[in-house]
Amino acid sequence: MQAVVIPLLFMVVVIINWGSSVNCEVMMDVLDPTCGFTELPFNTSLYQIHKPYDLPVAQRYSFVDGIHDLWVYSTDKPLYNGSTTHPRSEIKIGYTYSSGIWQFEGQGYVPKGTNGVCIMQVFGASRRATSLMLRVYNGSLTYYQSAAIVPEIFDRWFRLNVIHDVEAAMLKVYVDGVLLLVVADHGGKSHYFKFGVYGQNDMSSCMESRWKGIRVLYKNVTSRV
Ligand SMILES: *[C@@H]1O[C@H](CO)[C@@H](O)[C@H](O)[C@H]1NC(C)=O
Ligand SMILES: *[C@@H]1O[C@H](CO)[C@@H](O)[C@H](O)[C@H]1NC(C)=O
Ligand SMILES: *[C@@H]1O[C@H](CO)[C@@H](O)[C@H](O)[C@H]1NC(C)=O
Ligand SMILES: *[C@@H]1O[C@H](CO)[C@@H](O)[C@H](O)[C@H]1NC(C)=O
Repeated sequence: MQAVVIPLLFMVVVIINWGSSVNCEVMMDVLDPTCGFTELPFNTSLYQIHKPYDLPVAQRYSFVDGIHDLWVYSTDKPLYNGSTTHPRSEIKIGYTYSSGIWQFEGQGYVPKGTNGVCIMQVFGASRRATSLMLRVYNGSLTYYQSAAIVPEIFDRWFRLNVIHDVEAAMLKVYVDGVLLLVVADHGGKSHYFKFGVYGQNDMSSCMESRWKGIRVLYKNVTSRV
């Protein structure tokens, strides 16, 4: 069902077990993308909510039964008074990095009707804001506005893994454990992960995404050798 944007699915198997803390389970002949990475702590001290500046967090975010629910309206105010950016309700993960191999993992859910929105980003680039945006348009998960990574994303939980190898300047996106996108990053020296909803072009009046099982993982580049 899922389009293989870049047919590198089987490159997954060349990932080597570097012997770090995450177990390397092979599922359906594909190595788990977290294999060889070390999981870092993720708790309320390690993230912040970015939301319309005039509203309390609780009007655009809830955390119930382990599910982060983030929503925003196209008519909402931006993050800062005076900003020209579109409205957002996003979690900014508090690990800012400039080297190494970093991984975001989360189970995501986008309700039908959400459109024109970024649901996950790797912030930081050279001469632009981001190195990666995963957006939702017309019911598909897309890389910025290009071809669908997953043609039908609505109303189901999916597992998302995004790996950013800073020295290699490469990003890999896995959905449900399958490598679907390998792209160059956009440079830059300072990065972090965000997820939730951040309005883009063609915003629906309400935009929402839900997330659980968020993990941040890291691999020290020196362990490559
Ligand atoms: C979050 O994790 C960090 C690192 O382990 C720890 O220092 C901090 O106390 C934790 N904060 C909360 C609110 O649990
Ligand atoms: C936003 O900025 C304008 C111009 O500085 C100011 O008049 C207004 O009171 C500010 N609004 C809020 C909600 O802070
Ligand atoms: C979504 O569908 C509309 C209407 O068919 C089309 O104009 C638009 O280009 C599509 N957006 C993307 C990103 O494919
Ligand atoms: C990466 O490994 C090197 C060499 O073992 C160590 O000096 C450095 O502190 C490590 N970096 C992190 C962020 O763990």
